[in-house]
Amino acid sequence: MKITINQAGSHVGETVTLGAWILNKRSSGKIAFLQLRDGTGFLQAVVVKEDIGEDLFKTAKGITQESSLYVTGVIKEDARSDFGYEMEVTNLEIIHEAVDYPITPKAHGPEFLLDNRHLWLRSKRQHAVMKIRNEVIRATYEFFNNEGFTKIDPPILTGSAPEGTSELFHTKYFEEDAFLSQSGQLYMEAAAMAHGKVFSFGPTFRAEKSKTRRHLIEFWMIEPEMAFCEHEDSLEVQENYVSYVVQSVLKNCVLDLKILGRDTEKLAKVAAPFPRISYTEAIDRLKEWGFDDIEWGDDFGAPHETAIANHFDLPVFIINYPTKIKPFYMQPNPDEEGTVKCADLIAPEGYGEIIGGSERINDLKLLEERINEHGLDPESYSYYTDLRKYGSVPHSGFGLGLERTVAWLSGVEHVRETSPFPRLLNRLYP
Ligand code: 4AD
Ligand code: MG
Repeated sequence: MKITINQAGSHVGETVTLGAWILNKRSSGKIAFLQLRDGTGFLQAVVVKEDIGEDLFKTAKGITQESSLYVTGVIKEDARSDFGYEMEVTNLEIIHEAVDYPITPKAHGPEFLLDNRHLWLRSKRQHAVMKIRNEVIRATYEFFNNEGFTKIDPPILTGSAPEGTSELFHTKYFEEDAFLSQSGQLYMEAAAMAHGKVFSFGPTFRAEKSKTRRHLIEFWMIEPEMAFCEHEDSLEVQENYVSYVVQSVLKNCVLDLKILGRDTEKLAKVAAPFPRISYTEAIDRLKEWGFDDIEWGDDFGAPHETAIANHFDLPVFIINYPTKIKPFYMQPNPDEEGTVKCADLIAPEGYGEIIGGSERINDLKLLEERINEHGLDPESYSYYTDLRKYGSVPHSGFGLGLERTVAWLSGVEHVRETSPFPRLLNRLYP
Protein backbone atom coordinates (compact mmCIF):
# COMPACT_ATOMS: atom_id res chain seq x y z
CA MET A 1 0.00 0.00 0.00
CA LYS A 2 1.20 3.53 -0.83
CA ILE A 3 1.20 5.91 2.16
CA THR A 4 2.77 9.24 3.11
CA ILE A 5 5.20 9.69 6.01
CA ASN A 6 2.66 11.49 8.20
CA GLN A 7 0.47 8.36 8.04
CA ALA A 8 3.24 6.06 9.32
CA GLY A 9 1.77 5.94 12.84
CA SER A 10 -1.35 4.08 11.66
CA HIS A 11 0.66 1.46 9.74
CA VAL A 12 3.00 0.05 12.38
CA GLY A 13 3.99 -3.51 11.51
CA GLU A 14 2.69 -3.22 7.94
CA THR A 15 4.63 -3.27 4.70
CA VAL A 16 4.06 0.02 2.86
CA THR A 17 5.51 2.02 -0.03
CA LEU A 18 6.52 5.69 0.09
CA GLY A 19 7.42 8.13 -2.66
CA ALA A 20 10.31 10.13 -1.17
CA TRP A 21 13.52 12.08 -1.63
CA ILE A 22 16.87 11.43 0.02
CA LEU A 23 17.65 14.18 2.51
CA ASN A 24 20.82 12.57 3.78
CA LYS A 25 22.41 9.17 4.16
CA ARG A 26 25.09 7.34 6.08
CA SER A 27 26.26 3.76 5.82
CA SER A 28 28.73 1.20 7.02
CA GLY A 29 29.64 -2.18 5.54
CA LYS A 30 26.38 -3.88 6.41
CA ILE A 31 23.80 -1.22 7.12
CA ALA A 32 22.66 2.04 5.54
CA PHE A 33 20.49 4.77 7.07
CA LEU A 34 18.49 6.82 4.58
CA GLN A 35 16.91 10.06 5.81
CA LEU A 36 13.74 10.35 3.74
CA ARG A 37 11.39 13.26 3.20
CA ASP A 38 8.16 13.30 1.22
CA GLY A 39 6.68 16.74 1.95
CA THR A 40 4.49 15.45 4.78
CA GLY A 41 7.37 14.60 7.09
CA PHE A 42 10.78 13.05 7.67
CA LEU A 43 11.52 9.37 8.27
CA GLN A 44 14.63 7.28 8.75
CA ALA A 45 14.78 4.14 6.61
CA VAL A 46 17.15 1.36 7.61
CA VAL A 47 18.62 -0.85 4.91
CA VAL A 48 20.29 -4.08 6.10
CA LYS A 49 22.48 -5.86 3.58
CA GLU A 50 21.64 -9.29 4.87
CA ASP A 51 17.88 -8.72 4.47
CA ILE A 52 17.82 -6.89 1.16
CA GLY A 53 20.58 -8.60 -0.80
CA GLU A 54 23.89 -7.46 -2.27
CA ASP A 55 22.54 -5.59 -5.34
CA LEU A 56 19.88 -3.49 -3.65
CA PHE A 57 22.23 -2.71 -0.79
CA LYS A 58 24.74 -1.35 -3.31
CA THR A 59 22.00 0.82 -4.82
CA ALA A 60 21.07 2.14 -1.37
CA LYS A 61 24.68 2.90 -0.49
CA GLY A 62 25.27 4.76 -3.74
CA ILE A 63 22.09 6.81 -3.71
CA THR A 64 22.76 10.57 -3.95
CA GLN A 65 21.27 13.44 -1.93
CA GLU A 66 17.85 14.57 -3.29
CA SER A 67 17.41 11.54 -5.56
CA SER A 68 13.78 10.48 -5.75
CA LEU A 69 12.65 6.94 -5.14
CA TYR A 70 9.91 4.55 -4.16
CA VAL A 71 10.86 2.74 -1.03
CA THR A 72 9.03 -0.23 0.43
CA GLY A 73 9.39 -1.59 3.94
CA VAL A 74 7.92 -2.30 7.33
CA ILE A 75 7.02 0.60 9.68
CA LYS A 76 8.47 0.20 13.20
CA GLU A 77 8.09 2.25 16.31
CA ASP A 78 11.31 4.05 17.21
CA ALA A 79 11.39 5.79 20.56
CA ARG A 80 14.76 7.44 19.81
CA SER A 81 13.49 9.64 16.98
CA ASP A 82 11.36 12.77 17.52
CA PHE A 83 8.93 11.42 14.96
CA GLY A 84 8.58 8.07 16.72
CA TYR A 85 8.78 5.70 13.72
CA GLU A 86 11.25 4.30 11.23
CA MET A 87 11.14 1.94 8.27
CA GLU A 88 12.94 -1.36 7.71
CA VAL A 89 13.46 -1.43 3.98
CA THR A 90 12.57 -4.47 1.90
CA ASN A 91 12.79 -2.91 -1.54
CA LEU A 92 13.71 0.32 -3.26
CA GLU A 93 13.36 1.68 -6.74
CA ILE A 94 15.13 4.87 -7.82
CA ILE A 95 12.95 7.23 -9.88
CA HIS A 96 15.50 9.92 -10.63
CA GLU A 97 19.12 10.20 -9.65
CA ALA A 98 20.13 13.72 -8.57
CA VAL A 99 23.67 14.88 -9.29
CA ASP A 100 25.68 17.51 -7.40
CA TYR A 101 22.86 18.92 -5.28
CA PRO A 102 24.21 22.34 -4.31
CA ILE A 103 22.94 22.47 -0.71
CA THR A 104 24.96 19.92 1.23
CA PRO A 105 24.63 19.14 4.95
CA LYS A 106 27.54 21.52 5.68
CA ALA A 107 26.84 25.19 6.55
CA HIS A 108 26.20 27.69 3.74
CA GLY A 109 25.98 31.49 3.81
CA PRO A 110 22.60 33.26 3.55
CA GLU A 111 23.19 34.72 0.05
CA PHE A 112 24.04 31.30 -1.34
CA LEU A 113 20.96 29.80 0.30
CA LEU A 114 18.74 32.62 -1.02
CA ASP A 115 20.13 32.15 -4.55
CA ASN A 116 19.02 28.54 -4.15
CA ARG A 117 15.74 29.35 -2.42
CA HIS A 118 13.84 27.05 -4.83
CA LEU A 119 15.87 24.15 -3.36
CA TRP A 120 16.45 25.52 0.14
CA LEU A 121 12.69 25.22 0.73
CA ARG A 122 13.23 21.43 0.91
CA SER A 123 15.42 21.61 4.01
CA LYS A 124 14.04 20.51 7.36
CA ARG A 125 14.10 23.95 8.99
CA GLN A 126 12.62 25.75 6.01
CA HIS A 127 9.91 23.11 5.75
CA ALA A 128 9.06 23.69 9.42
CA VAL A 129 8.84 27.47 8.96
CA MET A 130 6.43 27.07 6.01
CA LYS A 131 4.28 24.69 8.05
CA ILE A 132 4.07 27.30 10.81
CA ARG A 133 3.19 29.97 8.24
CA ASN A 134 0.44 27.69 6.94
CA GLU A 135 -0.89 27.17 10.47
CA VAL A 136 -0.98 30.93 11.14
CA ILE A 137 -3.04 31.38 7.97
CA ARG A 138 -5.34 28.49 8.83
CA ALA A 139 -5.90 29.74 12.38
CA THR A 140 -6.51 33.27 11.07
CA TYR A 141 -9.37 32.16 8.83
CA GLU A 142 -10.76 30.00 11.64
CA PHE A 143 -10.63 32.84 14.18
CA PHE A 144 -12.27 35.47 12.00
CA ASN A 145 -14.89 33.09 10.67
CA ASN A 146 -15.74 32.04 14.22
CA GLU A 147 -16.06 35.71 15.19
CA GLY A 148 -18.51 36.46 12.37
CA PHE A 149 -16.16 38.35 10.03
CA THR A 150 -16.59 38.24 6.23
CA LYS A 151 -13.49 37.91 4.07
CA ILE A 152 -13.31 40.67 1.48
CA ASP A 153 -10.51 41.05 -1.05
CA PRO A 154 -9.25 44.58 -1.71
CA PRO A 155 -7.52 45.35 -5.04
CA ILE A 156 -3.76 45.05 -5.56
CA LEU A 157 -3.61 47.68 -8.31
CA THR A 158 -4.65 51.00 -6.82
CA GLY A 159 -4.74 54.71 -7.52
CA SER A 160 -4.16 56.04 -4.01
CA ALA A 161 -1.84 55.53 -1.04
CA PRO A 162 -2.97 54.68 2.48
CA GLU A 163 0.40 54.73 4.27
CA GLY A 164 2.36 57.66 2.85
CA THR A 165 3.47 58.24 -0.69
CA SER A 166 7.21 57.72 -0.29
CA GLU A 167 7.06 53.91 -0.25
CA LEU A 168 4.83 53.29 -3.25
CA PHE A 169 5.64 50.95 -6.11
CA HIS A 170 4.77 52.80 -9.21
CA THR A 171 3.44 51.13 -12.34
CA LYS A 172 1.46 52.01 -15.44
CA TYR A 173 -2.23 51.15 -15.70
CA PHE A 174 -2.51 51.59 -19.47
CA GLU A 175 -2.31 55.40 -19.77
CA GLU A 176 -2.89 56.08 -16.05
CA ASP A 177 -0.45 55.96 -13.14
CA ALA A 178 -1.04 53.18 -10.66
CA PHE A 179 0.53 51.76 -7.52
CA LEU A 180 0.84 48.30 -6.00
CA SER A 181 -1.21 48.16 -2.80
CA GLN A 182 0.59 49.14 0.42
CA SER A 183 -2.45 48.19 2.49
CA GLY A 184 -6.04 47.30 1.70
CA GLN A 185 -7.31 49.36 4.63
CA LEU A 186 -9.15 52.14 2.83
CA TYR A 187 -11.10 49.62 0.76
CA MET A 188 -11.71 47.50 3.85
CA GLU A 189 -13.34 50.53 5.51
CA ALA A 190 -15.77 50.65 2.59
CA ALA A 191 -16.35 46.91 2.99
CA ALA A 192 -16.99 47.30 6.74
CA MET A 193 -19.79 49.76 5.96
CA ALA A 194 -21.38 47.02 3.85
CA HIS A 195 -20.66 43.96 6.03
CA GLY A 196 -19.94 45.24 9.54
CA LYS A 197 -16.95 43.04 10.37
CA VAL A 198 -14.57 42.17 7.55
CA PHE A 199 -11.01 40.95 7.05
CA SER A 200 -8.63 40.70 4.17
CA PHE A 201 -5.54 38.61 3.60
CA GLY A 202 -3.28 39.43 0.72
CA PRO A 203 0.06 40.66 -0.58
CA THR A 204 1.17 44.24 0.06
CA PHE A 205 4.18 46.12 -1.27
CA ARG A 206 6.53 48.71 0.20
CA ALA A 207 9.24 50.29 -1.92
CA GLU A 208 11.25 50.90 1.22
CA LYS A 209 15.02 50.90 0.97
CA SER A 210 15.23 49.12 4.33
CA LYS A 211 17.63 46.27 4.79
CA THR A 212 16.71 45.08 8.27
CA ARG A 213 15.71 41.66 9.54
CA ARG A 214 12.10 42.87 9.77
CA HIS A 215 11.58 44.35 6.30
CA LEU A 216 10.38 42.72 3.11
CA ILE A 217 9.48 44.55 -0.08
CA GLU A 218 6.50 42.23 -0.59
CA PHE A 219 4.71 40.85 2.45
CA TRP A 220 1.29 39.48 3.34
CA MET A 221 -1.05 41.30 5.66
CA ILE A 222 -4.24 40.39 7.50
CA GLU A 223 -6.44 43.48 7.76
CA PRO A 224 -9.63 43.32 9.83
CA GLU A 225 -11.97 46.33 9.90
CA MET A 226 -15.00 46.76 12.18
CA ALA A 227 -17.95 49.17 12.07
CA PHE A 228 -19.40 50.54 15.35
CA CYS A 229 -16.06 49.76 16.96
CA GLU A 230 -13.95 52.08 19.06
CA HIS A 231 -10.27 51.59 19.45
CA GLU A 232 -10.43 49.87 22.86
CA ASP A 233 -12.73 47.19 21.36
CA SER A 234 -10.33 46.70 18.50
CA LEU A 235 -7.46 46.08 20.95
CA GLU A 236 -9.49 43.27 22.48
CA VAL A 237 -9.99 41.64 19.08
CA GLN A 238 -6.25 41.97 18.41
CA GLU A 239 -5.13 40.34 21.65
CA ASN A 240 -7.66 37.54 21.30
CA TYR A 241 -6.64 36.95 17.71
CA VAL A 242 -2.90 36.86 18.43
CA SER A 243 -3.41 34.56 21.45
CA TYR A 244 -5.53 32.24 19.29
CA VAL A 245 -2.86 32.04 16.60
CA VAL A 246 -0.08 31.39 19.13
CA GLN A 247 -2.05 28.65 20.88
CA SER A 248 -2.97 27.04 17.52
CA VAL A 249 0.67 26.93 16.46
CA LEU A 250 1.68 25.41 19.82
CA LYS A 251 -1.00 22.76 19.46
CA ASN A 252 -0.67 21.91 15.77
CA CYS A 253 3.03 22.45 14.99
CA VAL A 254 4.70 20.45 17.78
CA LEU A 255 7.25 18.73 15.51
CA ASP A 256 7.96 21.87 13.50
CA LEU A 257 8.72 23.86 16.66
CA LYS A 258 10.96 21.03 17.82
CA ILE A 259 12.88 20.95 14.51
CA LEU A 260 13.42 24.70 14.88
CA GLY A 261 14.53 24.34 18.51
CA ARG A 262 11.94 26.96 19.49
CA ASP A 263 11.66 27.70 23.20
CA THR A 264 7.91 27.11 23.54
CA GLU A 265 7.68 28.15 27.20
CA LYS A 266 7.80 31.78 26.15
CA LEU A 267 5.03 31.25 23.61
CA ALA A 268 2.88 29.29 26.05
CA LYS A 269 2.62 32.41 28.26
CA VAL A 270 1.02 34.44 25.46
CA ALA A 271 -2.61 34.92 26.49
CA ALA A 272 -4.98 37.90 26.37
CA PRO A 273 -5.10 40.52 27.82
CA PHE A 274 -1.78 42.08 26.76
CA PRO A 275 -0.19 44.98 28.63
CA ARG A 276 -0.74 48.51 27.26
CA ILE A 277 1.61 51.45 27.60
CA SER A 278 1.07 54.89 26.12
CA TYR A 279 3.61 56.37 23.72
CA THR A 280 4.32 59.19 26.16
CA GLU A 281 4.86 56.77 29.05
CA ALA A 282 7.11 54.64 26.84
CA ILE A 283 9.28 57.67 26.07
CA ASP A 284 9.61 58.39 29.81
CA ARG A 285 10.54 54.79 30.54
CA LEU A 286 13.13 54.70 27.75
CA LYS A 287 14.76 57.82 29.17
CA GLU A 288 14.83 56.20 32.61
CA TRP A 289 16.52 53.18 31.07
CA GLY A 290 19.24 55.35 29.62
CA PHE A 291 18.07 55.92 26.05
CA ASP A 292 18.92 59.59 25.68
CA ASP A 293 18.76 59.47 21.86
CA ILE A 294 14.96 59.71 21.77
CA GLU A 295 12.58 62.67 22.24
CA TRP A 296 8.80 62.93 22.37
CA GLY A 297 7.68 63.03 18.72
CA ASP A 298 10.33 60.62 17.39
CA ASP A 299 9.40 57.24 16.02
CA PHE A 300 10.79 54.22 17.86
CA GLY A 301 13.69 52.32 16.41
CA ALA A 302 14.26 48.59 16.81
CA PRO A 303 16.32 48.94 20.04
CA HIS A 304 13.56 51.03 21.66
CA GLU A 305 10.86 48.52 20.75
CA THR A 306 13.01 45.67 21.98
CA ALA A 307 13.65 47.38 25.33
CA ILE A 308 9.92 47.93 25.87
CA ALA A 309 9.03 44.37 24.83
CA ASN A 310 11.73 42.89 27.09
CA HIS A 311 10.36 44.84 30.02
CA PHE A 312 6.96 43.15 29.70
CA ASP A 313 8.12 39.79 28.26
CA LEU A 314 4.72 39.55 26.53
CA PRO A 315 3.30 41.18 23.40
CA VAL A 316 2.67 44.80 24.41
CA PHE A 317 0.46 47.52 22.91
CA ILE A 318 2.06 50.95 22.61
CA ILE A 319 -0.97 53.23 22.32
CA ASN A 320 -1.66 56.86 21.37
CA TYR A 321 1.29 57.89 19.21
CA PRO A 322 1.85 61.52 18.20
CA THR A 323 -0.40 62.58 15.32
CA LYS A 324 2.53 63.82 13.28
CA ILE A 325 4.28 60.42 12.97
CA LYS A 326 1.15 58.50 11.94
CA PRO A 327 -0.92 58.39 8.71
CA PHE A 328 -3.65 60.92 7.89
CA TYR A 329 -6.70 58.79 8.71
CA MET A 330 -6.31 58.28 12.48
CA GLN A 331 -8.90 59.57 14.96
CA PRO A 332 -7.59 62.21 17.42
CA ASN A 333 -7.23 61.09 21.02
CA PRO A 334 -9.36 63.45 23.16
CA ASP A 335 -7.44 62.50 26.34
CA GLU A 336 -4.03 63.70 25.18
CA GLU A 337 -3.55 66.57 22.78
CA GLY A 338 -1.37 65.88 19.75
CA THR A 339 -1.92 62.13 19.84
CA VAL A 340 -4.18 59.69 17.97
CA LYS A 341 -6.23 56.63 18.95
CA CYS A 342 -3.89 53.98 17.63
CA ALA A 343 -1.66 51.16 18.75
CA ASP A 344 1.29 49.15 17.57
CA LEU A 345 1.58 45.64 18.98
CA ILE A 346 5.21 44.82 19.76
CA ALA A 347 6.13 41.14 19.82
CA PRO A 348 8.46 39.82 22.53
CA GLU A 349 12.04 38.59 22.04
CA GLY A 350 13.06 41.44 19.76
CA TYR A 351 10.70 40.70 16.84
CA GLY A 352 9.31 44.24 16.82
CA GLU A 353 5.99 45.59 15.61
CA ILE A 354 3.66 42.90 14.28
CA ILE A 355 0.41 44.93 14.24
CA GLY A 356 -0.41 48.52 13.40
CA GLY A 357 -3.98 49.64 14.03
CA SER A 358 -6.19 52.60 14.86
CA GLU A 359 -9.62 54.10 15.10
CA ARG A 360 -10.39 55.93 11.85
CA ILE A 361 -11.57 59.51 11.52
CA ASN A 362 -15.33 59.42 10.96
CA ASP A 363 -15.94 63.17 10.66
CA LEU A 364 -15.97 64.36 7.03
CA LYS A 365 -14.57 67.84 7.67
CA LEU A 366 -11.68 66.66 9.79
CA LEU A 367 -10.80 63.95 7.28
CA GLU A 368 -10.79 66.44 4.41
CA GLU A 369 -8.51 68.71 6.43
CA ARG A 370 -6.08 65.87 7.06
CA ILE A 371 -6.03 64.84 3.40
CA ASN A 372 -5.08 68.42 2.51
CA GLU A 373 -2.49 68.72 5.27
CA HIS A 374 -0.80 65.57 4.00
CA GLY A 375 -0.69 66.99 0.48
CA LEU A 376 -2.85 64.17 -0.92
CA ASP A 377 -5.08 64.58 -3.95
CA PRO A 378 -8.66 64.75 -2.60
CA GLU A 379 -10.08 63.46 -5.86
CA SER A 380 -8.38 60.08 -5.65
CA TYR A 381 -9.73 59.71 -2.08
CA SER A 382 -13.32 60.74 -2.81
CA TYR A 383 -14.54 57.13 -2.51
CA TYR A 384 -12.98 57.19 0.97
CA THR A 385 -14.51 60.52 2.05
CA ASP A 386 -17.89 59.28 0.71
CA LEU A 387 -17.93 56.79 3.60
CA ARG A 388 -18.19 59.82 5.92
CA LYS A 389 -21.16 61.23 3.95
CA TYR A 390 -23.53 58.29 4.05
CA GLY A 391 -24.04 56.93 7.55
CA SER A 392 -20.60 57.53 9.03
CA VAL A 393 -19.91 55.46 12.17
CA PRO A 394 -17.01 55.01 14.60
CA HIS A 395 -14.87 52.24 13.18
CA SER A 396 -11.48 50.70 13.81
CA GLY A 397 -9.18 48.16 12.28
CA PHE A 398 -5.65 46.88 12.13
CA GLY A 399 -3.09 45.10 10.00
CA LEU A 400 -1.00 42.14 11.14
CA GLY A 401 2.16 41.37 9.17
CA LEU A 402 2.24 37.64 8.45
CA GLU A 403 5.99 37.24 7.99
CA ARG A 404 6.97 39.08 11.15
CA THR A 405 4.48 37.02 13.11
CA VAL A 406 5.82 33.78 11.63
CA ALA A 407 9.41 34.86 12.36
CA TRP A 408 8.50 35.41 15.99
CA LEU A 409 6.60 32.12 16.38
CA SER A 410 9.29 30.11 14.55
CA GLY A 411 12.12 31.85 16.37
CA VAL A 412 13.99 32.52 13.11
CA GLU A 413 16.21 35.56 13.07
CA HIS A 414 15.18 37.17 9.76
CA VAL A 415 11.82 37.57 8.00
CA ARG A 416 13.43 36.39 4.75
CA GLU A 417 13.08 32.79 5.96
CA THR A 418 9.33 33.17 6.51
CA SER A 419 8.45 34.00 2.90
CA PRO A 420 8.69 31.16 0.37
CA PHE A 421 10.28 33.47 -2.22
CA PRO A 422 11.27 36.64 -0.36
CA ARG A 423 11.40 39.96 -2.18
CA LEU A 424 14.26 41.91 -0.60
CA LEU A 425 16.23 44.99 -1.45
CA ASN A 426 18.30 43.86 -4.47
CA ARG A 427 16.66 40.45 -4.68
CA LEU A 428 14.05 39.44 -7.24
CA TYR A 429 15.52 35.96 -7.90
CA PRO A 430 14.38 33.23 -7.79
O1 4AD B 1 1.88 49.52 10.40
P1 4AD B 1 1.48 49.30 8.97
O2 4AD B 1 2.18 50.09 7.92
O3 4AD B 1 -0.10 49.56 8.95
C1 4AD B 1 -0.90 49.58 7.88
O4 4AD B 1 -0.57 49.34 6.73
C2 4AD B 1 -2.34 49.84 8.22
N1 4AD B 1 -3.02 50.38 7.03
C3 4AD B 1 -2.99 48.55 8.68
C4 4AD B 1 -4.45 48.71 9.03
O5 4AD B 1 -4.74 49.41 9.98
N2 4AD B 1 -5.32 48.06 8.29
O6 4AD B 1 1.65 47.76 8.64
C5 4AD B 1 1.00 46.78 9.39
C6 4AD B 1 1.92 45.62 9.70
C7 4AD B 1 3.13 46.01 10.55
O7 4AD B 1 2.82 46.02 11.90
C8 4AD B 1 4.10 44.87 10.21
O8 4AD B 1 3.77 43.70 10.93
C9 4AD B 1 3.80 44.62 8.76
O9 4AD B 1 2.49 45.10 8.51
N3 4AD B 1 4.76 45.31 7.90
C10 4AD B 1 5.80 44.71 7.30
N4 4AD B 1 6.23 43.44 7.30
C11 4AD B 1 7.32 43.12 6.58
N5 4AD B 1 8.00 44.02 5.84
C12 4AD B 1 7.62 45.33 5.79
N6 4AD B 1 8.29 46.20 5.03
C13 4AD B 1 6.46 45.71 6.55
N7 4AD B 1 5.80 46.88 6.72
C14 4AD B 1 4.77 46.62 7.54
MG1 MG C 1 3.27 50.49 11.55
